[in-house]
Amino acid sequence: MSEKATMEKIVNLSKGRGIIYPGSDIYGGMGNTWDYGPVGVEIKNNIKKLWWKRFVQENPKTYGVDAAILMNSRVWDASGHTTSFSDPKMDCKCCKQRFRADVIIENHSKGQVNADNLSNEEMQEYIQQHHVCCPKCGNFDWTAIRQFNLMFETSRGTTDESQNKLYLRPETAQGEFVNFLNVQRTSRAKVPFGIAQIGKAFRNEITPGNFIFRTIEFEQMEHQWFCKEGDDQKFYEEYKQTALQFLLDLGIDKESLRFKDHDKLAHYAKAACDIQFKFPIGWQELNGIHNRTNYDLSRHQEYSGKSMLYMDPVTNEKYVPYVIEYSIGADRLMLAVLSHAYDEETLENGETRVVLRFIPAVAAYKVAVLPLQKNLSEKAREIYQRLSKEFMCDYDETGSIGKRYRRQDEIGTPFSLTVDFDTLETGKVTLRDRDTMQQQTLTVDEVIAYVNEKCKFN
Ligand code: GAP
Repeated sequence: MSEKATMEKIVNLSKGRGIIYPGSDIYGGMGNTWDYGPVGVEIKNNIKKLWWKRFVQENPKTYGVDAAILMNSRVWDASGHTTSFSDPKMDCKCCKQRFRADVIIENHSKGQVNADNLSNEEMQEYIQQHHVCCPKCGNFDWTAIRQFNLMFETSRGTTDESQNKLYLRPETAQGEFVNFLNVQRTSRAKVPFGIAQIGKAFRNEITPGNFIFRTIEFEQMEHQWFCKEGDDQKFYEEYKQTALQFLLDLGIDKESLRFKDHDKLAHYAKAACDIQFKFPIGWQELNGIHNRTNYDLSRHQEYSGKSMLYMDPVTNEKYVPYVIEYSIGADRLMLAVLSHAYDEETLENGETRVVLRFIPAVAAYKVAVLPLQKNLSEKAREIYQRLSKEFMCDYDETGSIGKRYRRQDEIGTPFSLTVDFDTLETGKVTLRDRDTMQQQTLTVDEVIAYVNEKCKFN
C-alpha cells in the first residue's frame, strides 16, 4: 500500500470526488453508514462483477444464488446466531458510551493481548488490574461486561398478537446453505460443487467503523464449496490460494497481504484463516477462509427436519457434505483497493498530483472524453456516445485541460481522450495514459480495441 494513503485522505477524496459520502449526510450523518456516489457505485460494481466472473462465470462447478435477506427465524437458531452471535460490551457509567470490551483491551495493550481468547471474567479482570479508563471521557466507572447480539431485529404483522420476530441477515452464507439441495437437484450438481452469492448483510456494530472498513450494513461476497469429508483440507488449502490470487489480480501487491491463522477455532471449525491487508489503520482482516466441516448442513437438517444427505451417484455413498467457506466484504475490499491505489506523485514543475492507480478493470470510467475547446463539443459528444456503448465513460468540457486531467487522475480513470481541431479532419483523437501521462494518436475504433484489451481481467 502507498505509505501516502491515510484514512483521512481517502475519506476526503471519496467525499469530494463522488466516490463515497457519509450516510444521511444532510441530517448530520448516521454512525457507520456510508452512501456510494456516482464514481463509487461503479468501482464497487466492478469489484463485484470481477469477483462473480472469477468465482461463478469461470467456474463450471459453482452456481450463483440471490437468497432473501429476511429468512425464517429458525435459520438463525440452527446457525447459532440467535444464541452466540454477540460481542462483549460494557458501558461507561459517566458518559453513557458503549464499548466492545475486547476492542478496549486490544487498544490498551497495543495489540499485545488477543482478547478473542479471554472470557468475560478474564476481560473484566484485565480492565480492573490495568485500570483501563473510558477512551471517551477518561473516567473509570464501567458496567459489567455483557454479551450483546449483533443481529438487527424486525417484525412482521400489524397487531401485537401477530408479531413475529425476524432478523436482518448478519451474513449471506445461510442463504447458500439452505439452498444446498435446491441447487444440487435443479443444476444436477455433483459434489464437489460451489454456491456463491453477493448480497447485503447487517450487523449492529458499535465499534468505530473506520470508514467503510466496518459498517452496520455491508455487502458480502460468499462462496461455499461442498465436498466430501477427507477432501476438505485439500480444498481448504486450494481456496486459500484462489482467494489470494484474486486479490493479486485486482492489482494488490503481495507485500500488502498476509495469511493469519485463527488463534481460536469455532467449535465446529476444523481450520480457519484470514487474509489480512495492510489498511491505513494497520493489518486487518480482509477475508476469511474456513473449513466448517458438515456443521451447517447438519444443523439445518436437525432444525428443519429435512434430510441434507447427498447420495454419490457413483459409489452410492450417502453423506452430509463438508463446506469450505470463502467470504469477503465488498466494501472492505473496496477500501483495500482504494487505499492500495492511492498515490501522490510530484511532477517536474513541483506540483503534486493525486492518482488512484486502479487496474483499468476496476476503474469507474475507462475513458474520459475531453474536448479541448467548447466548440468541439458536438464531435466530442458523438465520440462519447460511441464509446459509452462499449464501456463507462465520463465527459467533461469545463475548465482547463490540465485541471480536467487531474480530476480524472483522482478518480482513477485510466485513459483520457482529447478531441481537437485535427479530429474534425482526420477523425483521430489523442489518448493519454493516467500512469505514464504518455499520449498516442488513434482512431476511435483503435481506442475501443485498445481500451477493451487493457480492461481484460483473466
Ligand atoms: N459467513 C462468514 C462470515 O460472515 P465474517 O468473518 O464475519 O464471516 C466475512 O465476515 C467478511 O465480511 C469479513 O472478512 C469482512 O470482509 C466482511 N465484514 C464482516 N463484518 C463487516 C462489517 N461490519 N463491515 C464491513 N465488512 C464486514
